[in-house]
Amino acid sequence: MKKNVYPGKFLVFEGPDGSGQSTQAELLKNFLIKKKFKVVLTKEPTKTSRAGKKIEKILNKKNKTSPKELQKLFAEDRKWHLKNIIIPSLKEGIIVISDRYFFSSFAYGKSEGISLKYLIDLNKDFLLPDKTFILDVSPSVCISRIKKRGEETTLFEKEEKLEKVLKIYKTFPQKFENVVIINGEKSKKEVFSDIKNIVSKILK
Ligand SMILES: Nc1ncnc2c1ncn2[C@@H]1O[C@H](COP(=O)(O)OP(=O)(O)OP(=O)(O)O)[C@@H](O)[C@H]1O
Ligand SMILES: [Mg+2]
Repeated sequence: MKKNVYPGKFLVFEGPDGSGQSTQAELLKNFLIKKKFKVVLTKEPTKTSRAGKKIEKILNKKNKTSPKELQKLFAEDRKWHLKNIIIPSLKEGIIVISDRYFFSSFAYGKSEGISLKYLIDLNKDFLLPDKTFILDVSPSVCISRIKKRGEETTLFEKEEKLEKVLKIYKTFPQKFENVVIINGEKSKKEVFSDIKNIVSKILK
């Protein structure tokens, strides 16, 4: 994994489905814009790349593939994402916030039986974020939030699956640089307050 040598900072939100990643990413974007930073909020999988379009159909259960093929598509989409959105923005000194990144591949891919070594190798040329926030929310809470949100459930949105995914996510701070676990079960505002404190240190 490559270190970020560009002037912009690269911040990532991760966690099980329904843990509040999109909510916190949006709060952070708005906060930083108010502070006069230039910000790009982006998301994986993208809906733009060829691979991203295929992934969308698989997650929405319209197409099927093997766990490995799915992770190859994620890596292809991520390569596109870095080349077209993330790196050009970082070069201009813009703060990039990504709603999911390669730690999603590591957690969801491993939960489907793929070895972490294989997954890391598939993503080895990609940029390491300056900070990754993993939202720690119990799967039962995640599922009840997803139900309240009222959209159709996607491929991984079952409590047993999210249980495995969360357990794997929690091992990442020991394995990778710049990863922190955030208690995501508090109110949106309280969770954001913890994130804001960490981001403020990075941007100083
Ligand atoms: N701290 C919180 N307390 C209570 N509800 C929350 C909290 N954070 C988010 N929510 C609500 O839970 C639902 C899921 O949040 P959100 O869409 O941000 O999750 P997500 O992690 O982006 O999920 P996905 O991985 O499926 O995109 C939303 O309806 C959101 O308003
Ligand atoms: Mg989301």
